[in-house]
Amino acid sequence: MEQRKERRRKARPEKAPEKRVLKTLDRVLSKAGICSRTEAREWIVRGRVKVNARTVRDLEHWVDVDHDAVVIDGRPLRAEKKIYLLLYKPKGYLTTYKDPDGRPTVYDLMAKVDQWVFPVGRLDQDTSGLLILTNDTQFAEQITNPEFHVPKTYLVKASTLLSDEQLAKLRDGLELKDGMTRPAKVKRVRDSESKSFFEMTITEGRNRQVRRMVEALESQVLKLVRVAVGPVRIERLQIGHWRHLTQDEVRALRKSGMRKRESGVRAGTGDGGHGGEGHS
Ligand code: URA
Repeated sequence: MEQRKERRRKARPEKAPEKRVLKTLDRVLSKAGICSRTEAREWIVRGRVKVNARTVRDLEHWVDVDHDAVVIDGRPLRAEKKIYLLLYKPKGYLTTYKDPDGRPTVYDLMAKVDQWVFPVGRLDQDTSGLLILTNDTQFAEQITNPEFHVPKTYLVKASTLLSDEQLAKLRDGLELKDGMTRPAKVKRVRDSESKSFFEMTITEGRNRQVRRMVEALESQVLKLVRVAVGPVRIERLQIGHWRHLTQDEVRALRKSGMRKRESGVRAGTGDGGHGGEGHS
């Protein structure tokens, strides 16, 4: 009888050993959504952060995410509630945190937000339109990384009249100095006597991509407004104002950012190196 029990005990699969998740301290702080990675590094160096009751100033210090107790200025680290905001950025504002030359930044418009947020991708100083800000780094990666193909739609005023053939070049994809662009969706909105207005949707996020694509047609962008990111459109949001994204909008944005396999048409469609760095 004892023997049978012993056999049964042995037959049971062994419990898998608990997996330890290790991350550097600066990463843990920024992932918690309370600060940027640069700020985290400053805090660490200044001795504001303790791990398991000991001050850690070593930027390479590894933290066991589930077991180590991290404390900042005496307060235990807790993951911040994730927030998702939508700002109608006016022309003239930078998407950086601080400008050494004192130019206005989007943070000047977000004074009432009491949590740390960062812009999801960038817009040129001269571009207006929809900018998402959040403290959710994983969400931001999904929106900005070109591998996820989240479409971004811009309203473009070109400095010249553009022919159907020229617009077709944008649709086909054209050669820029950092490689071929992916095909864009292009819809002519109207023409004035000497200028074309059109909507263009791209799924990459290279630096000044729309402007460079239009320049490749021997024209120039006079006005650029981002009117949509994925399924979220500007609609009635007033310029310079912001609002919270709804849960449905956040869900729909995540859904629109599905990782896609490249068809292999071009190795350099902007993947591998543009993620989160340029515009999005
Ligand atoms: N493309 C540009 O050229 N500029 C932006 O700000 C965004 C996309």
